[in-house]
Amino acid sequence: MIYVTRKAHFNASHRLHNPHKSDDWNRQTFGKCNNPNWHGHNYVIEVTVAGEPDPDTGYVIDLGRLKKIMQDRILDPCDHKNLNIEVPFLKDIIPTSENLVKAFFHQLEDDIAVSASENSKLYSVKLFETERNIAEYCPNRAH
Ligand code: NI
Repeated sequence: MIYVTRKAHFNASHRLHNPHKSDDWNRQTFGKCNNPNWHGHNYVIEVTVAGEPDPDTGYVIDLGRLKKIMQDRILDPCDHKNLNIEVPFLKDIIPTSENLVKAFFHQLEDDIAVSASENSKLYSVKLFETERNIAEYCPNRAH
């Protein structure tokens, strides 16, 4: 099995807020991240595709194709946007890193399945909210 990763970055604002809970609960739970006037992050996303190289090309996935898929599916909709209100595929979720990696995975998986070599597929999406705070979604990893 070969793992191929492409990294990109984007800037976005968000607010952690559960509309089904009280303002007090939200302030206590999310602290500064509940700021009503939003706050921003310089996000780094890493997308890993796993499989065997195509015998004709030697590629698990053409990284130019992967770059384009990430641009179309993640960066164009999210870069310099408010993740709570401007991104249709993030509607109605609390934009924690945990929820973002799952949503990003589902945004990417179909296009990657079409572009990757036979028997290769999207393996994981990793999101660095800061250098120290990282979430990864890897639903097909063997346990
Ligand atoms: Ni935040």
